[in-house]
Amino acid sequence: MRALVFDAYGTLFDVASVTSACGTVTATPEPFVALWRAKQLEYTFLRTLMGQYRDFWQVTADALHYTLKRLGLTATDEQKAQLMQAWLTLQPFPEVSETLQRLSHYPRLILSNGSLHMLNQLLENTALASAFDAVLSVEAVRRYKPVPQVYELATRQLGCAAREVVFLSANGFDVAGAKAFGFTVCWVNRTNLPLDELGATPDTEIRTLAELPNLVTTWQ
Ligand code: LAC
Repeated sequence: MRALVFDAYGTLFDVASVTSACGTVTATPEPFVALWRAKQLEYTFLRTLMGQYRDFWQVTADALHYTLKRLGLTATDEQKAQLMQAWLTLQPFPEVSETLQRLSHYPRLILSNGSLHMLNQLLENTALASAFDAVLSVEAVRRYKPVPQVYELATRQLGCAAREVVFLSANGFDVAGAKAFGFTVCWVNRTNLPLDELGATPDTEIRTLAELPNLVTTWQ
């Protein structure tokens, strides 16, 4: 094992933290956030298939506008700006900071759909910037996960074989894509979901990152 590479949204940072900001535009923020997140990811898949890249900030804004229209809601420009800002101040899951510290003897990287601007702001706002050795964004290849070229950013950066990378994600499609690429994959199955039917089984499954420090000792 040469390095730990983490997905960001949903794995390190809780997307549900945007829920309270959404309370300004809807009385039922949970389904609002669920649709917003689903559309955000759908647009990454579609834009990659269409060959029409826009960065994750734009895709997130587009998904917000769709969600508002679909649910028959309106928001002022200021409210929309506040909802977008919420992506820059997502809460890390409670175990993240301590776990990263305990694993500081390994290279720790982020590999995310997020733009570098979004990721760097988020890391600064959550005081986690120093916990990572590198932040890799799909921006470099202008395509989104799960295309192999995205995962290749990590092997190129590290100069190692895919199987030497332990990749951690909570997102099923990302787990499948990373496994298809050849990473050693750890699924952070935070909400006890069934495995996506994509023919790719992760090497291991944990419930939270708190299990990681013990797990890595078995991989030496
Ligand atoms: C990311 C998306 C998958 O951080 O949440 O890349």
